[in-house]
This record gives sequence, C-alpha cells and structure tokens, in this order.
Amino acid sequence: MRINKQFFSSLRWRIAFAYLMVIGIGFLIINLSIMEILEQHLIESKKVAYQKYSIQLAQIIANGYHDRDPDIFYQIRDFGNEIDQIEGESTRILVLNNRGIVEQDSYQSTSLLRRNLMEDYGEVRRVLNGESVPAIDLFIATGDPPEYKRILYSFAPITHYSEGIIGMVFMSTSLDGIEAILADIRKAIAFFSGIISLSIVLVSLVLSGFITHPIKELTAVITKMSKGHLNQRVNIRGGGEFRQLGEAFNIMCEKLENLDKARNEFVSNASHELKTPLSAMKVLAESLLNMEVDDPALYKEFLTDINFEIDRLNAIITDLLVLVEMDKEGAETGFKREPVDLKELVQRTMKGLQLLAAQKNISLELARDEEVVVPGDRLKLQQVISNIIDNGIKYTPEGGKVTVEVYNTPEYGVVKVSDTGYGIAKEDLGRIFDRFFRVDKARSRSTGGTGLGLSIANRIVLLHNGFIRVESEENVGTTFYIELPYENTDALES
Ligand SMILES: Nc1ncnc2c1ncn2[C@@H]1O[C@H](COP(=O)(O)OP(=O)(O)OP(=O)(O)O)[C@@H](O)[C@H]1O
Ligand SMILES: [Mg+2]
Repeated sequence: MRINKQFFSSLRWRIAFAYLMVIGIGFLIINLSIMEILEQHLIESKKVAYQKYSIQLAQIIANGYHDRDPDIFYQIRDFGNEIDQIEGESTRILVLNNRGIVEQDSYQSTSLLRRNLMEDYGEVRRVLNGESVPAIDLFIATGDPPEYKRILYSFAPITHYSEGIIGMVFMSTSLDGIEAILADIRKAIAFFSGIISLSIVLVSLVLSGFITHPIKELTAVITKMSKGHLNQRVNIRGGGEFRQLGEAFNIMCEKLENLDKARNEFVSNASHELKTPLSAMKVLAESLLNMEVDDPALYKEFLTDINFEIDRLNAIITDLLVLVEMDKEGAETGFKREPVDLKELVQRTMKGLQLLAAQKNISLELARDEEVVVPGDRLKLQQVISNIIDNGIKYTPEGGKVTVEVYNTPEYGVVKVSDTGYGIAKEDLGRIFDRFFRVDKARSRSTGGTGLGLSIANRIVLLHNGFIRVESEENVGTTFYIELPYENTDALES
C-alpha cells in the first residue's frame, strides 16, 4: 500500500498520467464527434431517401387514388417491396385520406385501418394543410418491459391536379440496421481506444522514465553527499536542461569540496601556529621548574621569553579574529566610506615604520606623492599599507631600500611599495595571500610574522572593490601595487 502511494505520487507516474489524460481526452472527443457525425450522416441520408420514395409513390398513385382504383393497393405493395430490396429493411406504407384516416396499409394489417392518425402525428395535419414536412425519427417504446426502437417516418401529400391535396403517403421503417452498424463501430472504437490507452500508459511510463532517470541519479548523489562523501559527481550525458543542471551541480560540488578542504587546511594551520608558541612556553616553563640554581636573572630571562611567546599567541589570535570578522557575510557594511587622503595616510604610516627601517639600516622613502583621495575606511587602509611596507622592511636584508609611491591612474588611486629584498619565487607568488602562508618559515617566524598579514590586507582591499598585485624577482626585489577605485559602488563582491 505504501509502495503504491509512493509510486502514484512519483514524477514518473504523474507524467504518464498527464500524457494519458491529454491524449485520452483528445481521443475521446474525436471519437464522440466522429460517431455523432457518422450517425447524423447515415440517418440524414436515409431520411432524404425515404422523403423521395414518399413523393414518388404519391405521384404514382395520385390519379388512381382519386378515382378509387382498387389496383393501387398492389402498386403500393410493389413499391414497398422495391424499397425493401434497396434498403434491406422492411417498410410500411400507409395511405391516408384528406382527413388523416388510414385507407391503405401495405402490411395488410387491420390494426391501423380506418384509424385517424391526425391526433397521434402532428405532421399529418401539417402535410394535409399543404406544409412541406421533412422526415423524422423517433424512439418508440414497445412491449413490456419496454424496448426502444428507432423508427423513421416520412410523409408526402397526394396532390390531384384539379382538387389539390386529396390524401397523403405515410411511410415508416425501422432504423435498427443503422443502429446496429453504429453499435458495431462503437464497439470497435472502444476496443481500439482501450488498446491505445494501454500503449499510451506503457510508452509514457518508459518515456517519463528517461526524463526522471537523471533526477533519480542526482538525488542518489545528493544523498551520498549529505552523508559526507563530498567527492561525488554526476555523469553528464545528453543535452538541454538536465545537462545544465548536472554541470551546475558538479561545479557546486567542486566548490563545496574546495571549501571543505580549505576549512580543514585552515584549522590544521591555525592549530599548528597556535601550538608552536605553546610548545615553546611549555619548554621554558619546565626548564624553570627543574632549575636547580636560584638565579633571579635567569628567571627574568626565561620569563621574558615566555612573555614574547604570549605576545605572539595574542597577535595570531587577534589576526584570526579580524579575518573571521571580515569573512562574515556583509562585512563591508561595517566599513566606513569616507574620503581617504592616501598621500597623508602613507606619510603617517611611514613615520611609524622609520624606526624599524633604521634598525635594519634600510632607507625608506616616498619617491612620488600625488594627491590621491579614494573612498574607504581609513583605519583599515592604514593596516594594509602598514603591513605591506612592514613586509618590505622585514624581507629585505640590511642596507637595502624600500621605496613608496602614491599616484593616480584613470581608474585607481595606487600605493606602490618596492623593495630590494629577497623576492618571492614564482611558484610561491600565487600563495602569499593564503592564510598562514610563509615562504621561509624559519626566517618569517624569527621576524615575528604570523603569515596572516597579507590575507587580511587582501581581504580589506577586495572589500573596497580594489586589487593588490605583486611583481617579484628572487634576490632582486618585490613590488606591491595597492589599487583602490575612486568610485566605490555599493555592491561589493570579492
Ligand atoms: N616584500 C616581500 N618580499 C619577500 N617576501 C615577502 C614580501 N612580502 C611578503 N612576503 C612573503 O609572504 C609571506 C606572507 O606575508 P604576510 O604579510 O602575510 O605574513 P608575515 O609577514 O609572515 O606575517 P604578518 O604580516 O602576519 O606578521 C611572508 O611570510 C613572506 O614569506
Ligand atoms: Mg606581513
């Protein structure tokens, strides 16, 4: 029972049912109208024929009837036999006088003789009054229980050349023959309709199977994916909408999988980064505990190291929180959109970094200072500029040079930072914006970097609708371009 219910509510069955309904109803309408037309046509032509017979007979017997010639009974009977021959159905012919009373009956039955038919058949009065009355057909009930028979009646006035209408011919014949033919045709149509309906159901079940097969396949794959198997893909065959659906689905799967991978990587990177300072602190603390000598200077040294590791941990967590905050949907709405004077901002940032540069004997100078104003969040942009200049200083050996330029292009306000440092290998260039990515772990860590600076910077610039570009050559130097658009459309996409 449950299986049946599921089957009938399935798309497959619904499609088959819809086919059946549409074709079936169309078929029914066509059948019914064919039957109707056929019936009309058969009966109509019979009526026309009998109308003609009646008129012919009326003409043949007009004179004899007027003269009361006893031979007209034989004329009537012979004519009746002729009609029977042609039509294959027996015909009763009555001749009525001008008052509607039956005077002749080809059946030689007495049942109707001398009866006045004017009351029973309105047509009789109308014919005798000179109206032209077409043939009619009626269903007559006979016997008990009543059996309906369809009878055709035709009428023609007997007109004498000088006395006008002196009587009428009244013919009747059974329409059973036509009814039988129609019944046969109905049966045949019903039979074929049944066969055709059955084939429609079968064919449409097969057809709709083709249609619903991809959906079933997709459902199976989605079910697997929801259980955690993200590496699923659907087979793409054929064309049209299902192909598009399949392609879109596979693209979505890939994105999901990548997202999953990136998340795992991020978690493992983050854990590793957090673990490093913790391990260092653990080693330092244990050494302190196991120390035999009671030397305050040594204590102080170890505690200073521990304090350094705590700062590092703090820096990583702060950066992570910043990143997470910016990854949130609608992060850009938390951004200010005020005009930012880039030249002023760069000058201020450089001032703060001069000491750091001086410590490494690096010259830090502003080589080009155009007036550049872009819409943005001053504090966030300062973070970007600061990180990139800081990188320049960090990854340039002593005695090197970091040059900053601020200038306009038709589309962007640009901050360009070039250094004469270690440079970045081609294969790493694409990854420096990744979280926790550092070209040289040892060197970066000794400089205190977390590997999050550029990913934060990139995120901020993207949320400003801008770009960060890098050019680098190993052991020659690196150049960063921070490009910020003058118009900051509201729809910010990354
Ligand atoms: N100017 C540069 N020259 C050479 N390598 C660079 C330069 N800028 C960045 N890199 C490389 O890219 C990596 C990522 O830089 P990022 O600023 O994200 O991290 P970090 O400087 O190590 O740490 P943080 O900025 O978080 O303190 C750096 O570790 C370094 O290897
Ligand atoms: Mg950095």
